[in-house]
Amino acid sequence: MHVPVMLRECLDYLALKPDGIYLDATAGLGGHAGAIARRLSPEGLLLACDRDAESLEQARRNTADCASRIRFHKVSFSHVGEALAIEGISQLDGLLADLGVSRYQLTESERGFSLLADGPLDMRLDRSQARTAADIVNFESEKQLADLIFKLGEERRSRRIARAIVRARPLQSTGQLAKLIEEAVPRTGKLHPATQTFMALRIAVNEELEELDALLASIPRLVKPGGRVVVLTFHSLEDRCVKQAFQAMASAGRARILTRHVVRPTEQEERENPPSRSAKLRAVEMQ
Ligand SMILES: C[S@@+](CC[C@H](N)C(=O)[O-])C[C@H]1O[C@@H](n2cnc3c(N)ncnc32)[C@H](O)[C@@H]1O
Repeated sequence: MHVPVMLRECLDYLALKPDGIYLDATAGLGGHAGAIARRLSPEGLLLACDRDAESLEQARRNTADCASRIRFHKVSFSHVGEALAIEGISQLDGLLADLGVSRYQLTESERGFSLLADGPLDMRLDRSQARTAADIVNFESEKQLADLIFKLGEERRSRRIARAIVRARPLQSTGQLAKLIEEAVPRTGKLHPATQTFMALRIAVNEELEELDALLASIPRLVKPGGRVVVLTFHSLEDRCVKQAFQAMASAGRARILTRHVVRPTEQEERENPPSRSAKLRAVEMQ
């Protein structure tokens, strides 16, 4: 069963109006989307978006009970405006984004996100996109790989890992890559030594930081004054982007920051739902 992260906090900060129009930019398994749609009146509407067609199908199945209040759109962050245009909506009462990958994507080994289940080096959220993790791993230069693993994975041993990858190329599977990294750098602490490299590759394949920047830049256009925006991040680089974008909106008089300090899950939620542990929530009200 999928448990949406910080659901109560997301709903509180969205301050839903039952007749409002909302957009969930990361429908995923439909956890947050269903919770929002169930609180809307027949006049309210939720646009449930995701760039992963298979996730949208899961979300559709998991929200069948409130289907009349949801429209699904396969769009990435940089194209959410198209979902509004198709629906003939000028502005939203609220927008939610719960970044990263879902449990479903992580556990489907053929999607290539998991270092624990062997699969192809894929990692595309949108499977119609051309570039996969294999393209990066097998064709980027050693320096480019090291820089990418250092910057996006915040991995201090990036040079050693990049060297080991270049020596072992061509690589085909997540299992091969995970094993190679395990041999190249010793395990410190609980995390598998390939964890940060896998995260860096996923962020690079899907241009996740560029996508997030595009979403944040479109907020003043998409969300009406008085409308709320809630973003959940799981990575310090993403949280920094959100914090800076919200601060810039506030300085320009376009938004009021609702979360002076970042909001974290309660200890109870962290215990009951370990994937929530690294979550950080920030929210604004547009002006
Ligand atoms: C953590 S999951 C969301 C889970 C969801 N909130 C739920 O409760 O079921 C993140 C989702 O965001 C999607 N996603 C990530 N980056 C995206 C982007 N740039 N554009 C659209 N969807 C994106 C992923 O495909 C994934 O399904």
